[in-house]
Amino acid sequence: MDNMHDILPTPGPIGVFDSGYGGLTILQELRDRLPGYDYLYLGDNARAPYGNRSFELVYRFTLESVKALFDRGCHLVILACNTASAKALRTIQQNDLPEIDPTRRVLGIIRPTVESLASLTRSGHVGILGTKGTIASRSYEMEAAKLQSGLTVVGHPCPMWVPLVENGEGASDGADYFVKKDIDQLMAADREIDTVILGCTHYPLLINKISRYLPEGVEPVRQGAIVAESLADYLRRHPEMERRLSRGGTATYLTTEQSEKFTDMASLFLGEPVTASHIDL
Ligand code: DGL
Repeated sequence: MDNMHDILPTPGPIGVFDSGYGGLTILQELRDRLPGYDYLYLGDNARAPYGNRSFELVYRFTLESVKALFDRGCHLVILACNTASAKALRTIQQNDLPEIDPTRRVLGIIRPTVESLASLTRSGHVGILGTKGTIASRSYEMEAAKLQSGLTVVGHPCPMWVPLVENGEGASDGADYFVKKDIDQLMAADREIDTVILGCTHYPLLINKISRYLPEGVEPVRQGAIVAESLADYLRRHPEMERRLSRGGTATYLTTEQSEKFTDMASLFLGEPVTASHIDL
């Protein structure tokens, strides 16, 4: 026991957190890109959606969820939720992690998304569609400024999109009205936008309608593949964390809602049924 740091803790799954089901679109891409690891998904479905909630509540709920994933053996947790990444990530990284366990890591999905923008846009004008919370936080604009990207970032909130998806109305005619309205409003704010980030993990489920209403030449960008590539890069650069990840190729699902409800809805997001266990936070 000369050096405590030489002792490898028990490897654990990669924690993937979302307020609800949306993070499943990220999990799917993580498993495609990095299939060898174990994943533990937690959806705080009982308290979702987070999109219209206050900073304080999103922070508290996210921290409780992160702690639950740590307690179940995760050394690394991805906040696969823009709202949580926007409102809770920084405080958790700076204030909570040093006290809880400085060797664990919590990563968000906004920074990797912004980092990828420069290679996606030609005009330098990028639109962000997200929940009210994400857009009001101006997190995308702030990250772009921090990275000195020189990009013009224009956000637009789409408060109806998550409820449409979660109520199984994503493919309905009613959804067309809201998708078109929000896209028109975003494009009216800046006609030079040529790239639109789907800045909410639910939105890939509306991709058909989004593509229909975006003007020609404007590309919608889903975050899943970007986040997966960024995690692969992170693990290459952090072998000390990579060694702490268990490798069984499994995915396990936890929900704060009734587990039966999660199973039904998860099929919509993943295209296959999964079995979830209930946890109380
Ligand atoms: N999936 C979350 C996100 O990426 C939003 C859903 C919610 O409002 O809870 O922002």
